[in-house]
Amino acid sequence: MAVNVAVHDACCVFAGPVVTEARTRQVMLRRGDFVLSPCLWHDARFQIVAFRCYLITSLLAIGVPTVQSASHPALPDLPNESPLPHILSIDSLSGTEIDAIFDAADRLQPFARGQRVSNVLNGAVLVNLFLEASTRTRISFGAAFNRLGGHVRDTTGFQFSSLAKGETLADTARVVSFYADVIVLRHPTEGEVATFSQSSLVPVINAGDGSGEHPTQSLLDLYSIRMQRRQRGGEVAGSTVAFIGDLHFGRTVHSLIRLLMRFESMHFVLCSPDFLGLPSQLLARVKARGHRVTVVDAIPEALAMADIIYITRVQRERFSDRGEFTLPPASFRTTRSMIDQHCLPHAVIFHPLPRDGRPEANDLDPAISDSIDSRVAIFRQADNGIATRMALFLHVFGVGIEAVESTATVPLWKSWKV
Ligand code: CP
Repeated sequence: MAVNVAVHDACCVFAGPVVTEARTRQVMLRRGDFVLSPCLWHDARFQIVAFRCYLITSLLAIGVPTVQSASHPALPDLPNESPLPHILSIDSLSGTEIDAIFDAADRLQPFARGQRVSNVLNGAVLVNLFLEASTRTRISFGAAFNRLGGHVRDTTGFQFSSLAKGETLADTARVVSFYADVIVLRHPTEGEVATFSQSSLVPVINAGDGSGEHPTQSLLDLYSIRMQRRQRGGEVAGSTVAFIGDLHFGRTVHSLIRLLMRFESMHFVLCSPDFLGLPSQLLARVKARGHRVTVVDAIPEALAMADIIYITRVQRERFSDRGEFTLPPASFRTTRSMIDQHCLPHAVIFHPLPRDGRPEANDLDPAISDSIDSRVAIFRQADNGIATRMALFLHVFGVGIEAVESTATVPLWKSWKV
């Protein structure tokens, strides 16, 4: 007998009244019944079944084949070279892709500020898996996904994940990827986000892996640098960029240098305590590209040369690898008087934040902000985290900015942002 069924969802967990006829093991269905059928796939290793929910929309029927189905095709093994658009390093993105992301980010600014509303990712689920402390990255990823109409689930802190019970990263990756359409992962160990991605069934975005990389921070950094340079009539190519602080463990520095060395004729000025210098392999790559590198000992010297100044805190949490933590000397505190005396008029100061406000940390002075000196752009930089991450999600999901704009509506609620 024919039956009309409507497939409701690929992962639905509701089943209505279904009567099973014991002798024939067939299923009696009535109009309006929901039937939960384990018909998509089954991974025996994890005992996980995806369900499809059917609403019976016409006559009573007996023996709907999908309801009786008991065997399911196993998931294929994951390919060695993933076809998924993981963002593991800033090198995962070509120049053309980054240009498109920045163009989209420009157009997404009203959405990032809540002046326009989009639901283009309605139904999609982001899992934010942060195994290390974060404020900006975790919240801005979540807010960016929400601003596109998607839903966010978070796990924060290694101790609140089942990794603390001894679960392997591969098992965690496989299971979480059943629950998500995209995963953002921060991990304390370099290379572990890439390891995780090998067992994931959905795209994985690196939100910082130990002292390795922080690719999305470098995206928003370059977006901010380009914006500020253009406002001053300059470009990124040919600039002098001073990196000040922890160049050894600072993953934001590593990703940003990788990105900036794609431009022509850069001059990198490196200023760090001598025990926190740029990793030698990365330094060799910069030099091999033909860029000029100058190493200086004192911050004033670095400030006096630079069009772009990028200051980072000392990454205390990485010193466990080395056994002991050594504070940077007081001369590594960037103060207002240093900026007043030494910075060029058109220079712009960036910091990925957080800056370490403890006096002994000798980071960028906490009293310095965008409102004190227009050359300081640290909060405008952080603000760009939403638009750039929204644009990155569009890239990962293959959604054009036109789709966002064409379905956009005006919010019914009041935003306090201009
Ligand atoms: N810039 C950055 O990664 O900040 P959080 O550690 O607060 O995420």
